[in-house]
Amino acid sequence: MKSSRFDTKLIHGAYDRAGHYGSLTPPLYQTSTYSFDSAEAGERRFAGEEAGYVYSRLGNPTVHTLEARMAELEGGEAAVAFSSGMAAVSAVLVTEGVYGCTYGFFSMLEERFGVEVDFLAMEDEEALSQALRPETKVIYVETPINPTMKLVDVEMVTRFAREHGLQVVVDNTFATPYLQRPLAQGADVVVHSATKYLGGHGDLIAGVAVGRENFMEQVRMETHKDIGGILAPFDAWLLLRGLKTLSLRMDRHCENAAYVFERLKDHPKVRSIRFPGDPASDTFRLAERQMSQFGGLISFELHGGKKEAQAFLNRLKLAQIAVSLGDPETLCQHPYTMTHSVVPVDKRREMGISDALLRVSVGLEHPEDIWQDLKQALDG
Ligand SMILES: Cc1ncc(COP(=O)(O)O)c(C=O)c1O
Repeated sequence: MKSSRFDTKLIHGAYDRAGHYGSLTPPLYQTSTYSFDSAEAGERRFAGEEAGYVYSRLGNPTVHTLEARMAELEGGEAAVAFSSGMAAVSAVLVTEGVYGCTYGFFSMLEERFGVEVDFLAMEDEEALSQALRPETKVIYVETPINPTMKLVDVEMVTRFAREHGLQVVVDNTFATPYLQRPLAQGADVVVHSATKYLGGHGDLIAGVAVGRENFMEQVRMETHKDIGGILAPFDAWLLLRGLKTLSLRMDRHCENAAYVFERLKDHPKVRSIRFPGDPASDTFRLAERQMSQFGGLISFELHGGKKEAQAFLNRLKLAQIAVSLGDPETLCQHPYTMTHSVVPVDKRREMGISDALLRVSVGLEHPEDIWQDLKQALDG
């Protein structure tokens, strides 16, 4: 039975057991190439006159199952999987804050290839209008933004983009399609670091892009095939396994983060805090409209600076000092010296990344244990 419900699609989507000896889980096709029945069959496959696989850089059944399932989950026509989130990221007009390596990638495009990039706070249409140039092609949005947890109004951006004939790419890594569906809000492409919540177990690096069939086919043929940043079949298989529990894990991440936020916000050592579910935040209404829950990430500033932030990290006992996010383990990091250290200091300041800022990816442990660990590290 085909279901349109998200939880069922996570488990059954885009996979026909009949074609795979009834194998309950999608099989792992751990192969680099595929043999042809005859030389002529090989010729036909290369010419695209006969369906079938040729070589795993051009396509692999396990990876295709993952891609088709991701397309269903995001409500897009097609998806392409990549060897990392960064391999899936490409665009040219960027929100003021983005993941550090995304910033690095855009800066490289600008310096080496002359692709001009403007980083701006997409607070309203006025800000977008001011940045718009005749040569602008794409608006690239991250929301919630890593690591400041600011939000961008996807509907506002896509409305503006339509009026000006621009494409919109949304990095949906922090929310996942369980909490937020940018394509339904008018975005053209969604990208993910599947390394995070989609995989969910901290054991792989992967990326996915989802969008319209003709565009994804172009990505597949021009970028993916020839540059070669493909996803390995085993990682696609792990991702298919992780995806099955996405909604359960996200519910728990969200609940745990809300629990921690409620306590963290009133701690005297905490100078400021950002969490999409904070009713006092200026984007709370937007979060309620755009996301079904508020996610598992919180960022907060301590009184003091780098010394205090590093001392806090060094006192943690349960939470791990690590970048990445969306794992079962609670992870804490210092964006100023870690994920966003590649961003120039003045830009870090503009983005709101001070040396006292910490980002916590609230894990799946018991929420009281997570809070007690953060508390003892704050009190220490
Ligand atoms: C929002 C966001 N986008 C993209 C990436 C890059 O993904 P990956 O590390 O899988 O290449 C990250 C990594 O932290 C991220 O947080």
